Amino acid sequence: MKNIGLIGCGNIAETYFRSQEYFNNIKFVACADKYPEAAKKCADQYTIKSLSVDELLNDSNIDIILNLTIPQAHYEVSKLALEAGKHVYSEKPMSMKYDDANHLLEIAKKNNLYVGNAPDTFLGGGGQTARQLIDEGEIGQILTGNFIFGFPGVQEFHPNPESWFQQGGGPVIDMGPYFFTTLVNLLGPAINVRARGKKFLDKREYLAGPKKGKFFDVEISTSVMFDVEFANKSIIQGFISFDVQNHGRNHMELYGSKGSLIVPDPNMFGGPVLLSHKLGSEWKEYSVENKYLGKTNIINHSGRSNEAPKQSNYRGAGLSEMIYSIENNRKHRCNGEIALHVLDIIESIIIASETKNEVQLRSTCYQPEPFSEDEIKLLLK
Ligand SMILES: NC(=O)c1ccc[n+]([C@@H]2O[C@H](COP(=O)([O-])OP(=O)(O)OC[C@H]3O[C@@H](n4cnc5c(N)ncnc54)[C@H](O)[C@@H]3O)[C@@H](O)[C@H]2O)c1
Repeated sequence: MKNIGLIGCGNIAETYFRSQEYFNNIKFVACADKYPEAAKKCADQYTIKSLSVDELLNDSNIDIILNLTIPQAHYEVSKLALEAGKHVYSEKPMSMKYDDANHLLEIAKKNNLYVGNAPDTFLGGGGQTARQLIDEGEIGQILTGNFIFGFPGVQEFHPNPESWFQQGGGPVIDMGPYFFTTLVNLLGPAINVRARGKKFLDKREYLAGPKKGKFFDVEISTSVMFDVEFANKSIIQGFISFDVQNHGRNHMELYGSKGSLIVPDPNMFGGPVLLSHKLGSEWKEYSVENKYLGKTNIINHSGRSNEAPKQSNYRGAGLSEMIYSIENNRKHRCNGEIALHVLDIIESIIIASETKNEVQLRSTCYQPEPFSEDEIKLLLK
């Protein structure tokens, strides 16, 4: 059993604490935050120790650091953890900059440590069923496809939305990790990107919290359209936007030489997956309710376009699988090489949208192994 110390006691921490109910090897022993009162509150709620970040990093009882800080702090916190000799699992994105994420992998390699990264949603019933249908050749060779994430932006409900609209933030770095990791799971690594982005307004209005009615600056493109070419020759078009009031499109569709697949929401673990073989034919529905990591387990209140009101959320699966891999000396699926490649895609899309040039990716990665029900069962309580 490995002991986990959590750094960053904010919104998403609750979801990870809940993962202890599902997975048999997730055990939090201490937490820390930049604000001691946030750590204290979290520690009291879950009856674990509250420490300072320094104390937690130097605690010889802790093997793994779960980094749930804000994206701007991911690099710094993961680096300190690796330098302290701890394995790291971080929320997305791996860091704000490709070079920094690459540096984390170098430190991990030198110190013989594991680096794992969210998102782990592709390990869910939806992602794995889509993968199985593709691997079995149901839609032949995947030629093209598209995906969308569009909503009005976090200023609708978040009292401090500024960081989403500053340099280093924006729709592609915020939501891209889910879509690109799902695509790497289904298609393998990418090779180049093209893109166009637009900032429509210089200021946005706070719509919630104490600053409601005031305005904040927008520094980044709030809508970005792009296409990604994969090493397997597929070209996939994407659109990620904070300028969409509502839409009625599927999250992701893939078009192959023998059929088409509708891939469920990459932000979640559930299904169903839909498959059609011929023009005009019925869409066959593959439910994932009988899958360990597909069964509906939460009510989702987000109200975003095309988000199901009931969903499957097993965040922590990637952390659990990394712990199992450490203990059994094997490669984990939500590994740093995939997260680095996904960050490469994101950073390259932003560069391509600014320079109006096709950008060749610097990195590659292995397509993760499918995650069988038998393997998942080993991790479950
Ligand atoms: N909230 C969600 O629904 C959600 C979902 C999926 C992924 N995520 C990801 O999880 C991460 C955290 O998101 P959140 O919504 O919980 O954010 P949050 O702002 O609610 O919490 C982050 C916490 O980290 C602390 N922190 C910041 N910098 C720190 C540092 N240098 N050292 C120690 N503590 C520090 C903050 O004080 C805060 O308590 C982000 O990377 C986000 O992309 C969030």
